[in-house]
Amino acid sequence: MSTPPHTSELVAVVTGGSGGIGSAICARLARDGYKVVVGAGSNLERATDIAAQLTGDDHCALPLPVTDSRALTEAAGSVADRYGKVDLLVNCAGTTEPVPHDDLDALSDAIIDRIFTTNWRGPFAAVRAFRPLLEKADMPVVVNISSIAAVTGQGSNVAYCASKAALDSMTRSLGRALAPKIRVVSVSPGWVLGEYASRFPADYIQNQTDQTPLNQLATPDDVAAAVSVAARELVLTTGSIIPVDGGRPLGVN
Ligand SMILES: NC(=O)c1ccc[n+]([C@@H]2O[C@H](COP(=O)([O-])OP(=O)(O)OC[C@H]3O[C@@H](n4cnc5c(N)ncnc54)[C@H](OP(=O)(O)O)[C@@H]3O)[C@@H](O)[C@H]2O)c1
Repeated sequence: MSTPPHTSELVAVVTGGSGGIGSAICARLARDGYKVVVGAGSNLERATDIAAQLTGDDHCALPLPVTDSRALTEAAGSVADRYGKVDLLVNCAGTTEPVPHDDLDALSDAIIDRIFTTNWRGPFAAVRAFRPLLEKADMPVVVNISSIAAVTGQGSNVAYCASKAALDSMTRSLGRALAPKIRVVSVSPGWVLGEYASRFPADYIQNQTDQTPLNQLATPDDVAAAVSVAARELVLTTGSIIPVDGGRPLGVN
């Protein structure tokens, strides 16, 4: 069996590192011993604060606007200068907004384009930009943060669900295309407790919990743990979708 390199030498880049789930992933990876690049979209200040609070040293914050491929290439140049390689790329940046699934007029072209440009083209562009640095690592991994909306077709809007299904498809395609050098997996949460879930009424969230076989919703730390294990332990897993959903798609008795 292959043995992952010692963590003190590892470098992780996390797009959307300034967000709720992304910041938990950065914290977990820093505790695991990675040097972490906390990627920001619009909020570089928050990413900088997060990087400063991580366990260990030599972390940094960097603008990683996933809809701007040229900026991603420039960012990869900065990462190359500072670290020389990337062992783990986590594509966590994502966007959505609630639109009722039966209100087709409300799901405008602009919303659809923003969601697909961010949630699908963004991760692809990040892999494209960081591939040369991933190839410099011993056992490089890409983790795409997906959603069970990809499978259930239930989620904030129809385009969001489709964008995550397309992301899982990319995981399978690149898992094959980038093998044997780079592994590619999706980590696929159901509901995650945090800022987005807090916008919903407590009884709605309780109902979601009641419909989950393990009777609890994920925390950002649960998602971060799955990323950590996928990157460090699941060394023969590629092109796979790893759920963190309490068994939600199974339904309850
Ligand atoms: N929350 C859930 O229940 C849930 C469930 C399943 C899957 N997910 C997925 O988990 C990921 C993180 O979600 P979250 O709940 O943590 O959301 P969040 O707190 O809103 O964070 C979103 C992150 O994405 C970044 N981002 C958005 N647009 C970007 C762009 N164009 N370029 C670069 N970065 C961009 C934001 O950066 P700035 O703030 O710096 O702009 C932020 O760091 C998403 O992919 C989401 O689809 C979430």
